[in-house]
Amino acid sequence: MTSAPLSVSEPIPETAGHPLIRLEEVTKTYFMRGYVVKALKKVSMEILPEDFITISGPSGSGKSTLLNIMGLLTDPNAGIFEFKGQEPVTLSDNERTDLRRNNIGFVFQMHRLFPNLTAVENLAIPLIPYMKGLEFNLIDKARELLNKVGLDPNKDRRAFEMSGGEQQRVAIARALINDPCIILADEPTGNLDEVTSDGIIEIFKSINESMHTSIVLVTHNSKFFPIGNKTYHMENGVISQLR
Ligand SMILES: Nc1ncnc2c1ncn2[C@@H]1O[C@H](COP(=O)(O)OP(=O)(O)OP(=O)(O)O)[C@@H](O)[C@H]1O
Ligand SMILES: [Mg+2]
Repeated sequence: MTSAPLSVSEPIPETAGHPLIRLEEVTKTYFMRGYVVKALKKVSMEILPEDFITISGPSGSGKSTLLNIMGLLTDPNAGIFEFKGQEPVTLSDNERTDLRRNNIGFVFQMHRLFPNLTAVENLAIPLIPYMKGLEFNLIDKARELLNKVGLDPNKDRRAFEMSGGEQQRVAIARALINDPCIILADEPTGNLDEVTSDGIIEIFKSINESMHTSIVLVTHNSKFFPIGNKTYHMENGVISQLR
């Protein structure tokens, strides 16, 4: 299955050339009962608009923790983390939620769709509380995005009736519903066979190239490391740039 061409949009002017995300010596430590886990150790990196970054590393090396910080889901214990020039630790809960909702799309290994809802409904549901303020028709937008990820919106099935690869396409379309400037994808092909995985990675590539969306892709599959413009590896909380 090939995806339909994606519409071309301009880079967000206020971020063009400036880092979308900046980490400087970011440390994240989990304090558990009786022991301490240093999940991130002085991680420094920048993500520019339109970057496509792949991150690899063994289980427990800190990849998801790093994505959770980038996605404003958790805060560092030390160091500087900026998203579009703002430090999320200084924001209220509402401001943080708005920043996340307006800028970030998430795709996980487990797609986390509502199984009994159709693809269109799964895309629309996160924005239903905000429907009054939307400048677009939510259902039309959902159908358009499904088309972009290679699914036929006229054959709108419930999530549980779809294959794993099709469900992951729906999850990618859902991540795009609010025109994010960055997609954070945590092992999105982890549960898929090779051919299906290739198709999913092609969709990310196409989104990056034609919509100018930055992508951060955590993957164990070394075949996908060269797909982006920068490649990082994590080991025991320490990040290094391979290219
Ligand atoms: N909420 C948490 N509370 C306590 N420790 C945590 C928490 N989240 C992660 N950790 C620990 O932090 C370390 C890094 O975990 P993380 O999930 O970031 O690794 P990962 O590289 O994503 O691994 P995987 O490839 O298995 O998904 C691990 O030792 C993990 O046990
Ligand atoms: Mg992980």
